[in-house]
Amino acid sequence: MRNLLSMETLSNEEIMGLIHQAIAIKKGDIHPFNKPLYISNLFYENSTRTKKSFEMAQAKMGMTTIDFEVSTSSVNKGESLYDTCKTMEAIGCDALVIRHPENAYYEQLKGLTIPVINGGDGSGSHPSQCLLDLMTIYEQFGHFEGLNVVIVGDIKHSRVAKSNYQAMTKLGARVRFVAPEAYREHEFPVEYVELDDVIEEIDVCMLLRVQLERHQASHHEIQAQYNSMYGMNLERYHRLKDDAIIMHPAPINREVEITSEIVEADKSRIFPQMTNGVYMRMSILKYVLEGSLLLQEVNHLEPIGAAV
Ligand code: CP
Repeated sequence: MRNLLSMETLSNEEIMGLIHQAIAIKKGDIHPFNKPLYISNLFYENSTRTKKSFEMAQAKMGMTTIDFEVSTSSVNKGESLYDTCKTMEAIGCDALVIRHPENAYYEQLKGLTIPVINGGDGSGSHPSQCLLDLMTIYEQFGHFEGLNVVIVGDIKHSRVAKSNYQAMTKLGARVRFVAPEAYREHEFPVEYVELDDVIEEIDVCMLLRVQLERHQASHHEIQAQYNSMYGMNLERYHRLKDDAIIMHPAPINREVEITSEIVEADKSRIFPQMTNGVYMRMSILKYVLEGSLLLQEVNHLEPIGAAV
């Protein structure tokens, strides 16, 4: 049985296989599952992109999505995560997508016999976001080796930063962090730099959401200070290399991490990341449920479906 729990469990070959497969699907190589498959998305934390793009991916793959809302479920009668998941398995789900506030919640689910796709665990991992980010970078540059990447912002609370740092480093990119002291995480041997010292040399500027709900200062104070020191604005935008790209997992705080005028500018990949998220999640569903990866890039649209 294949799960997708974190980036650490994927080899470089599997990561590239998922990316090639997602790009082929985007080009039109779509093969919905040829048997009825049922899936449920169990989101114990709020989500727009991850939940809705998994739903879209499931619809495009011909799956039936079994609705589950924590707010109207027996979670509110005290049912455990394990018993809830075991119930979804017992009624016939073939896989579950789960987002949960507890780091590594999936360690409790070892008794399941159906695959789990991690839609984000606390401040741990967000592998489907990481994979769609990697797909977006690969579309721009065609490789990862030697790319100069900075991840900017609330590193400490960010599962996106951790997943991306691990995966991109493993794939050969140079990853550095930019963050105010209060947002730094010293768990990784990563160099911290100032954005203005490296802005002209970077290939990828990955912005993170400032998790305003976790900070004491008012939104107005954070907004005023953060953008001038750490935010992407028009002045910094013009100092980026011509082929550099700006990314953000969203939701964005406009005028904090990025000024509004840049959100949809040429170098921004913020909305294309969301589009890629659907194709990457289709690729993940094929991998988890069929073992399908595309082991090399193809420019034609022949189905390959190489099994691992
Ligand atoms: N990027 C991301 O995970 O967005 P949501 O929280 O809206 O799913």
